[in-house]
Amino acid sequence: MSYSKIGVVGLGIMGAGIVEVFARSGYEVIGVAESEAAVEIGRGNLAKSLSRAVSKGKLSQNESDVITGRVTFGPEFKLLSDCDLVVEAAPEILSLKTSIFSQLDQVVKPSGILATNTSSLSVTQIAQATNRSGQVVGLHFFNPAPVQKFVEVIGTKISDPDVVASVTALGAALGKRTAQVTDKPGFIVNKLLLRYLNHAVQILDAGSASKEQLDAAMRELSNYPMGPCELLDLVGIDTCVEIMKTIHADTGLDIDIPAQGMLELVADGKMGRKTGSGFYDYSQSHEAPTDSDELIKAQVHLDLVTAYLGDCIAMQATGYASREDIDAGMKLGCGLPEGPFEVIERVGLSQVRKNQADLANRTGISSYQPLSL
Ligand SMILES: NC(=O)c1ccc[n+]([C@@H]2O[C@H](COP(=O)([O-])OP(=O)(O)OC[C@H]3O[C@@H](n4cnc5c(N)ncnc54)[C@H](O)[C@@H]3O)[C@@H](O)[C@H]2O)c1
Repeated sequence: MSYSKIGVVGLGIMGAGIVEVFARSGYEVIGVAESEAAVEIGRGNLAKSLSRAVSKGKLSQNESDVITGRVTFGPEFKLLSDCDLVVEAAPEILSLKTSIFSQLDQVVKPSGILATNTSSLSVTQIAQATNRSGQVVGLHFFNPAPVQKFVEVIGTKISDPDVVASVTALGAALGKRTAQVTDKPGFIVNKLLLRYLNHAVQILDAGSASKEQLDAAMRELSNYPMGPCELLDLVGIDTCVEIMKTIHADTGLDIDIPAQGMLELVADGKMGRKTGSGFYDYSQSHEAPTDSDELIKAQVHLDLVTAYLGDCIAMQATGYASREDIDAGMKLGCGLPEGPFEVIERVGLSQVRKNQADLANRTGISSYQPLSL
């Protein structure tokens, strides 16, 4: 399988970034969205990202023009007919994705591979909307796609192993660290990341800490590039709610019910940066949140990190992903300074397990108990 022409469907936060990734790597790219207006937003997203790179001196104007020249935008799916691969990055709604895949199946040449950038939905169900389910995989980029150096490649039980191998090689050719995973809600990174984000909003909902305390705690005490509320705003709170619904449908655990604070913001139309406000207002420049209550910051930091490390241990112990892939995913996909297993090594497994038991006993939530070894 060889790739020269790549299609991208959906040109929002992720789609426009994925267009940029392929165009920067020399591929001819076709970017499609559902209307002329949506296409214009996508074109603007690409232009903004490239001009930011030019103004930072990371790209010359000439390179930016060459990249832009590789991309054709339009609102019609038939533009994708001779693409070797089409990556779908439409909203995280299963019925929408299956409808898009059934349309793609009609218009894309029979040898074309179809990939979804879904964060949590069943790739198997999406594949079944086509008559080429063996040629459908998940290809999950991270935000911002041109920056984060990790992709998850999701093969289903019905994916052709050669297709999975070839898409994995393509991911590596784009300069990304790849991890092959099976089709489970949230895959590696979002299962871990979204639980952590949801946990932070549960703490906020309970009134135990403010958003500034949560964000400052993770920035200052773990050196995260941003705190959980800031990250929810970056990812899109609507997307995060949908991911948590899928994870909750899989686990049935109360801790996976989307936190009320996210549901309320979405109901108010405040989805985060993309709508101008979410937990924070982005009409003015956003500064790193600060707070001087060291005790509260230390407590929420301990609770969030403890639950997250417990999830990482469980994911590895159940054989879903290796510690190398988990560490790489959290560092290269989310920009965290350390992988969770590096943290566990530093803190000590027995201390982490003790922290887990303390958290479970203090909150009365048995899901936080350490795994029995
Ligand atoms: N936001 C993130 O951080 C992130 C990270 C990784 C993966 N994802 C996944 O990527 C996908 C897209 O998320 P996003 O954050 O870019 O969403 P978004 O809301 O920013 O963009 C969605 C895009 O899809 C387009 N669209 C809507 N309906 C369409 C249709 N019928 N046909 C074609 N295009 C249509 C919209 O115009 C928009 O361009 C989701 O599956 C999400 O889970 C998101």
